[in-house]
Amino acid sequence: MTQLTWLVTGCSSGFGEVFVRSILARGDRAIATARGDVARLALLKDAGAAVLSLDVTASQANINAKVEEGIAIYGGIDVLVNSAGYIEAGIAEEVTQERFIAQFNTNLFGSINTTRALLPHFRAKKSGVIVYVGSLGGIAGEVGGAAYCASKFALEGVAESMKLETESFGIRSHLFQLGHYRTKLLSTDNYKAVPRTVDAYKALNDMIYGFLGQADSNQPGDPEKAVNIMIDIVKEEGVAEGKTQPLRLPIGKDALGTLRNKYVKYLELCNEWEDVITSTDYDIPDVKASTTVQGHEATVL
Ligand SMILES: NC(=O)c1ccc[n+]([C@@H]2O[C@H](COP(=O)([O-])OP(=O)(O)OC[C@H]3O[C@@H](n4cnc5c(N)ncnc54)[C@H](OP(=O)(O)O)[C@@H]3O)[C@@H](O)[C@H]2O)c1
Repeated sequence: MTQLTWLVTGCSSGFGEVFVRSILARGDRAIATARGDVARLALLKDAGAAVLSLDVTASQANINAKVEEGIAIYGGIDVLVNSAGYIEAGIAEEVTQERFIAQFNTNLFGSINTTRALLPHFRAKKSGVIVYVGSLGGIAGEVGGAAYCASKFALEGVAESMKLETESFGIRSHLFQLGHYRTKLLSTDNYKAVPRTVDAYKALNDMIYGFLGQADSNQPGDPEKAVNIMIDIVKEEGVAEGKTQPLRLPIGKDALGTLRNKYVKYLELCNEWEDVITSTDYDIPDVKASTTVQGHEATVL
């Protein structure tokens, strides 16, 4: 089995950290990254990872330089895992534009810019795998999750478009829509609480913070199990053997439940409304405008 070199963002805790440990356990090479002092990654270094300081909200030039440093460590990178992320928790009306932008800077632009930094390397070697750590929050909106869900919905569009744009260079993309997993994501240290400014939302805010307090450390998902599935898919082995390579895949019972519930109902609604939905073309039978943009009619799963 070919030994792969992985660069993982957001490794100070959670999925990033679990990825690195699992990658090393599989006999692959890992470059663990986190913002700030690399001393935060001392345990992963002891476990055999190379370590780099990387803040995914840094400038493109800074991220490019860090990625170049990463490429130099083992002479190349085969897989990028975009894991760094956090939650701005609060009612949309109370989330300021600055907070929305901060959420997007990490969860969306952090992934885009880090991927952009790797793409010339992947194109040059005609191979590479991009992993986007998506979310159930990128499938359906949630009360108190507008900023987070918006960033994860946006990631879906980027991953889908980038897949179409880069697959001819031998680059694969995977976006994993994770359910609720026991990491530090919902800990008061890691999520950012949006200040409450509108009294009318008191009950909803109480519900949100009640949920966060109760859900933290009680999530049903085991990050190690999810990471092993994601690694199998990247390496096309284990549970991925003989299965279609997915662009996106829900991982976790809750993620699959949300997805099924949403899309089955959505399809039923579209079927009910089909005669109305399809009634808007000009009544001139010989007009054949070309409306097929690559991807729109492709099956992008
Ligand atoms: N756990 C879940 O249930 C779940 C579900 C769906 C999706 N996800 C996604 O999984 C990813 C990882 O989250 P997690 O669950 O592992 O939570 P976590 O334990 O809180 O880990 C998040 C990591 O992201 C890092 N990070 C945040 N901002 C960063 C930045 N600007 N630059 C570099 N690193 C940064 C954090 O580092 P610091 O220590 O420096 O803050 C931390 O290491 C996120 O994208 C999250 O949206 C998680």
